[in-house]
Amino acid sequence: MRKNIVAGNWKMNKNFADAEALMIQLLEYKKNNTTNCEVYIAPPALYLTMAKDIFKNAEVEVFAQDVSEYQSGAYTGEISVEMINSIGIDGSLVSHSERRQYHGETDSHANRKVKALLDVGLTPIYCNGETLEQRKAGQHFEVVKNQTEVALFTLSADEIKKVVIAYEPVWAIGTGETATPEQAQEIHAHIRSLIAAKYGQEVADEISILYGGSVKPDNAKEIFSQPDIDGGLIGGAALKIEDFSKIIEGFN
Ligand code: G3H
Repeated sequence: MRKNIVAGNWKMNKNFADAEALMIQLLEYKKNNTTNCEVYIAPPALYLTMAKDIFKNAEVEVFAQDVSEYQSGAYTGEISVEMINSIGIDGSLVSHSERRQYHGETDSHANRKVKALLDVGLTPIYCNGETLEQRKAGQHFEVVKNQTEVALFTLSADEIKKVVIAYEPVWAIGTGETATPEQAQEIHAHIRSLIAAKYGQEVADEISILYGGSVKPDNAKEIFSQPDIDGGLIGGAALKIEDFSKIIEGFN
């Protein structure tokens, strides 16, 4: 069956010493506690090597926050799938809403990034979700359908099985406003049904779909208990071990 996952997206936070301290706290936590979900972190790119070193003997997977769709060449500021692969990184977030909002990323970019990651055997965590305006206009099911189809539906069944999807309604990210467990569940079920219609139920049942958007220690358990929610992509609450560990324990 599909994996339960709690993934921490650190975004653009923490200097080197503070990042190292938080990684060591997470390492200690993992050593001393049994967890009922997989634990991933996506620190800033500058700290990926350190993260791989710190977690070399621990069950914490390390992800980049973004990766280039191109193989190599004159793309200043970008990092490639080959670069992250060569230091043992497990995968990358793809088209987080902040990449869409501030860097003009679309689902066509997402499609190429997902493919580039899969081609070298890395795991994409593909992010989608509607804006507040789209939700108010009742377009959320349609928006998420279009996003999912453009980004993922050129993949083969074997490929899409290796993708993790993170549904993150933009209006819930960093706002303290969480989708209700029912609102999140209905979109997760919708995404799974789209995949089932295209690839078959067996494939759809293997794909982990995470919820992101103001997940906190006090709401994680209820969100994770929904049948089509397989974990969370955590932003702000991943920056303190006290909060992140309690969210992980939402699966206990
Ligand atoms: O990648 C994480 C999401 O954007 C959620 O962020 O937990 O701070 O709302 P948040």
